[in-house]
Amino acid sequence: MTQDKPRVLVLYFTQSGQLKDILDSVLSDTRFATDTIVDWVAITPEKPFPFPWTPDVFFDTMPETVEHLPSPIKPLPKHLFQNTYDLIVLGYQPWFLNPSQPITAFLQSDDARILKGNRVLTVIGSRNMWLHAQEKVKAYIQAQGATLVGNICLFDRHTNIISTLTVIRWTFTGQKEAGRWLPAAGVQDEDIKAASRFSTPLFDSLSTLQWDALHEQLLRNDAIILNPGLILLEQRAIKNFRFWSKYIREKGEAGNPARRPRVRLFKRLLIVGIFILSPISAISAFIKLQLHKKKLLKDVAYFKDVNYEAGRI
Ligand SMILES: Cc1cc2nc3c(=O)[nH]c(=O)nc-3n(C[C@H](O)[C@H](O)[C@H](O)COP(=O)(O)O)c2cc1C
Repeated sequence: MTQDKPRVLVLYFTQSGQLKDILDSVLSDTRFATDTIVDWVAITPEKPFPFPWTPDVFFDTMPETVEHLPSPIKPLPKHLFQNTYDLIVLGYQPWFLNPSQPITAFLQSDDARILKGNRVLTVIGSRNMWLHAQEKVKAYIQAQGATLVGNICLFDRHTNIISTLTVIRWTFTGQKEAGRWLPAAGVQDEDIKAASRFSTPLFDSLSTLQWDALHEQLLRNDAIILNPGLILLEQRAIKNFRFWSKYIREKGEAGNPARRPRVRLFKRLLIVGIFILSPISAISAFIKLQLHKKKLLKDVAYFKDVNYEAGRI
């Protein structure tokens, strides 16, 4: 039987449903429902991560996320491998500056062969620190011989401090909605709705099978807005996370009570880092920005792009 409609596979993971809402909006052009076959597949951990999280489990999840030693996921449905896809959409979120564990587990699994030789569009739903995670995802995609044809990144547009406070409330209590003092957590609802602007260029590429100009067109529609200060902030933060992940793992695997004191120390230092060091870091980033503007602007162009050069962050 010949397949005349373009076929899209959407692979995603979400805890709160935010990423699914973003993907629904990105694929909301009605022609996706009428003229395209879209297979939606949620990546499912064998043992679900808690939501809301307890602080102990949350911070204990950092080392294996940073070291790319994820908890196992369930295999993809077998029948997917019989289909030919024109595009695979990978929807994911950063955890501790890396892809969330279920996404890393998928990208490392035998099932990742479904990406082989295919075109991939990444869609990210983050707080605001996603650069290092996307570099890792680019590397996995390249290792499968697949081509990244576009990236759409949604993030919380509030200031770093406000988005941190609201994400903490959301993560540990489940409350996403605005409270008395703080706005709603996560990506703004209006930004999720406005992500529907990407669905027409996406459908056009799919129906013409012309992919070269897609990412440029997405960028023209502000698919990625990148504050150069965040590059410096992430570069600094990832070095710390790498140190702490190794230090904590010296005391055992995830969940091992022997590592609890080190996990708690990491938690305290992270809180100090976010609320005291990150404003200082922002000032030093601003100074660096003035001194090395040319280089940073080149970095901004690189991180907004879909090509991959190892070791950029
Ligand atoms: C364990 C954990 C770590 C996170 N780390 C980051 C991070 O490093 N950068 C970031 O921008 N957002 C981070 N977030 C926020 C998520 O990327 C995401 O926006 C949020 O969890 C909602 O995703 P959902 O669709 O799975 O509910 C983190 C969330 C969790 C649960």
